Amino acid sequence: MTQKTSEDQTTEDQMPENQTTESQATENQTTGRGGLFVTFEGIDGSGKSTQCRMLAEALSARGREVVLTREPGGSEGAEEIRRLVLEGDPDRWSAETELLLFTAARRDHLERRILPALAADQVVVCDRFADSTRMYQGLSRGDLRGSVDQLHELMIGHEPDLTILIDMDPDKGLARAKGRQGHEERFEDFGADLQHQMRAGFLALATEFADRFRIIDGDRPIDLVAQDVLTVVLDALPATQSESPKT
Ligand code: ADP
Ligand code: TYD
Repeated sequence: MTQKTSEDQTTEDQMPENQTTESQATENQTTGRGGLFVTFEGIDGSGKSTQCRMLAEALSARGREVVLTREPGGSEGAEEIRRLVLEGDPDRWSAETELLLFTAARRDHLERRILPALAADQVVVCDRFADSTRMYQGLSRGDLRGSVDQLHELMIGHEPDLTILIDMDPDKGLARAKGRQGHEERFEDFGADLQHQMRAGFLALATEFADRFRIIDGDRPIDLVAQDVLTVVLDALPATQSESPKT
């Protein structure tokens, strides 16, 4: 089983011997030969983390090599940045500084974990990615979408193959998120208004990037949501990765 969790930190010895460069990995992916980059998006409490885990397990059981990861975080340096952005006073950073921090974390994650995994034909299942920045930094704290897009083009330049939007009633999502214990409360503390704004924003993003977004209703039993997620992902897997269920 090659499934890894976001707690697994990338180390130098996990890198390919001749470290894969970003351009090599991108080339590999755009030829259609590589793995699949799947991201999950949606409001807090919509069930993304739950569905990411279930998808990774289902794909691993079918013999796929899966990297399960998350943002902010997913690599050693990015997990350090995660603590800076998710813990503490909600006003700790300006919107612009926050945008830089999330982008720095993403760059490290992309270089050290995502692109090497795609180059090795693995399926990357990532809990949030750049669409979250488009929403949270681009929309919620002033109109920074132009800066988000510019920075993305300059420093990231990579989109998922498939983005699953777990759509959810914002009040129910907030209630679920509040049910969790933890220190990462900066964003949950922004409350119901933000959740409503984010839900509408994510649905608009799904229209903007209709080629890679699939919307799945998250307000249903976990297993039913998981079935739909798996169907959509199996549909998108490159034909070269033929299915080989484990016996
Ligand atoms: P997210 O990662 O989107 O914030 P989580 O996967 O952490 O959401 O789920 C938030 C909470 O809601 C967790 O306690 C989880 O067990 C629960 N949950 C997830 N999906 C469902 C569902 N479909 N129905 C009911 N509860 C759910
Ligand atoms: P996450 O751990 O996915 O929270 P949840 O499980 O509650 O959905 O993400 C933490 C918070 O970080 C979430 O409120 C959204 C925010 N975030 C941004 O503001 N910008 C980003 O680029 C990312 C990836 C996350």
